Formats: sequence, C-alpha cells, structure tokens
Amino acid sequence: MLLLGIETSCDETAVAVLENRQVRADLIASQDDLHAAFGGIVPELASRRHLEVLPTMVTEAMSGAQVTWTDLDGIAVTVAPGLIGALLVGLAYAKGIAFAHNRPLIGVNHLEGHLLVAMLEHPDLTPPFIGLVVSGGHTSLYFVEQVGQYRLLGATRDDAAGEAFDKGAKLLQLGYPGGPLIDRLAATGDRTRLRFPRPKLRRKGSPFEVGAYDLSFSGLKTALAQQLARPQSGLSSIRVEDYAAAFQYRIIEELVDRLAVAAHDLQCDRIVVAGGVAANRGLRARLDTLARKEGLRCFIPRMRYCTDNAVMIAWAGMQRAWRGEKDDLALNATAVAELGSGT
Ligand code: KG4
Ligand code: ZN
Repeated sequence: MLLLGIETSCDETAVAVLENRQVRADLIASQDDLHAAFGGIVPELASRRHLEVLPTMVTEAMSGAQVTWTDLDGIAVTVAPGLIGALLVGLAYAKGIAFAHNRPLIGVNHLEGHLLVAMLEHPDLTPPFIGLVVSGGHTSLYFVEQVGQYRLLGATRDDAAGEAFDKGAKLLQLGYPGGPLIDRLAATGDRTRLRFPRPKLRRKGSPFEVGAYDLSFSGLKTALAQQLARPQSGLSSIRVEDYAAAFQYRIIEELVDRLAVAAHDLQCDRIVVAGGVAANRGLRARLDTLARKEGLRCFIPRMRYCTDNAVMIAWAGMQRAWRGEKDDLALNATAVAELGSGT
C-alpha cells in the first residue's frame, strides 16, 4: 500500500509518501518565520503560505520517493480539526490530484494521526492503550480501544498545554513558539523558588463520564501574570529560568497526573504521548520516571513525528485504506472535530 499524505491544518505544510511502514518521503515546511512577529498564528497568512508551497512540495516528495501518480494507492489528507482556511487549501489540492489522476481520496482526522504514529515506529505497540495528544491546539486524553475506536477521557477546558507554554513565554517576553524556549530555560531554573496553584477540577465516578479527566491551564497563565506584576517578585528578583522551571513543572504535573490516574483506573499499562509538547525534555524525563515507578510502557514518537508532519497523516490514512475505506469528492473540512465520545 502506497499513500501520499498531505497536512496543512495549522502552521506547518507537510507532505509524505509512505509505503506500508516505510517512509519514502517526509517533507515539512515550518511557517514559524511568518508568524513569529505576531506572537501567534495568523490564520489568513497560514492559508496563503500553504497555497504557495504545497504544489512544489508534492512534486518534490513524489520525485524524492521515485513514485508516479499511478503507483499511488491513495491520497490521505487532513480534514479536521484545524484552521478552516488552512485545512481547505490541503483538501482542495488533494481533491484536485485525486480527481485528475483518478486516485482514491482518504480524509484523516489530525488527532488520529498524532495518536497512531507511535504504532508506525513501534510495531509491538497495539491497542488498547491510553493516548495523550498535547499540542498548541489540543490537550486530549483518549482510550484507544482499537484503531478507529476512541473514547475521549478528558480534554482541556480552556487553553491547550502548548498554548499555555506559548502564552507563558509571551508573558516572560521570550518569543514564539514558547514551548522550546521555556523547555531550554527550565533546565537550569529552580522551580522551588515560586509555586503555581493547581486547578481544582472535580473528578467524577466512571472513567468514561464526560470530563472525568479534564484539565485546565488558563489559571496558570493568570497566576504567572500576577506573579510578574508583583514588584518584589518581578523578573529582577527571581530569575527567568526559575519562572520557566516552575511554570513548566506545573503543566507537566497536570499531564502526568491524568495519565497515571487513567492508566490505573483503566488497568492499562501502555501509554502514548504525542503532539508538539511531547518534545518537552522535562515531560519526557517525568514520563520515564512514571513508567519505571508504575510498571508502565510509555511510547513517545521521535521528535519529528511529535510535531505536525504528514507521515502521521499517511499512516492514519493507511489504517482506513487497509479497512477498504475511502471518501468521495464531496468530502469537506471541519474546524472542530473531537475524536471519540465521552459517553
Ligand atoms: O503539534 P504541534 O507542532 O502543532 C499543533 O498542532 O499545535 O505543537 C506545537 C506546540 C506549540 O505550542 C509549541 O510551543 C509546543 O508544541 N512545543 C513545546 C516544545 N516544542 C514544541 N512545548 C514544550 N516543550 C517543547 N520542547
Ligand atoms: Zn498537531
């Protein structure tokens, strides 16, 4: 099975060619340079950039992989969730080539891509497992019963974890994207020099009740802003590294707490963590400790597959193709589309 994968849901344009488990091409064009000056993603600029670079990237990926249109068994493309304009650029392009070359079109949910890509790298990883997707747009915890069958255990009620990193970095005047910058500073900071409050979220009875493992990060951002506004504890008296360490610590503890409780409640010993925030070194180290302490196996995709990429889209599309599924040209994009249900 040979698929072309296209990803344009946010601020990375990505194209991949995947032949079963073998990655034949994997291109990612970041737009960080375009959005950095604004401290966040500007949707209209993102769409325009996707449109500019996508056709050349597809040509490059196909020639790099030495495949022709007729070799392809399908075109997998992200259809949800994401910035609607950005998604539409990728989808319209995928439809165009699917129609022109008479190839099957396969719509993919971006979150499913993040959740399943660990299986590509770890053939011994099979469902059921608990999956946490932590990125700039998402913080969702799932129970993956089998491929295609997901139960949403909990999600953030406000900011995503990556968004919290980005907003925290903005308050600390570090730049964008904030996650890697806070990650770097936190390594040399002293987190005990200040303490951030834990959100009080009531945990309900059954693991499958809506919101049973919900998270919240907007209070943390407010707490940081308040700390910084206090004259005696401004950036001059506590080092920026200390702020970064304490702020990052709070985010990590929230994520790891949910994972640990879910693994325990569901008696599941396999955990997958994916999405841009999974690149965080503090989180990776903390997950290592958790896994050793609780006897869990923790799978984190390599850095390149943690952040947005098209290999994960081709891989998730391949699962659908293997089941004989495909879409027609009426396929549409959706900005908001959570996987699974909480009931
Ligand atoms: O998955 P991703 O590339 O794009 C989205 O779908 O959002 O994730 C990007 C997010 C950004 O918020 C970025 O700050 C965060 O992931 N991120 C990190 C790190 N690297 C990227 N957060 C914490 N530590 C990092 N090392
Ligand atoms: Zn993503």
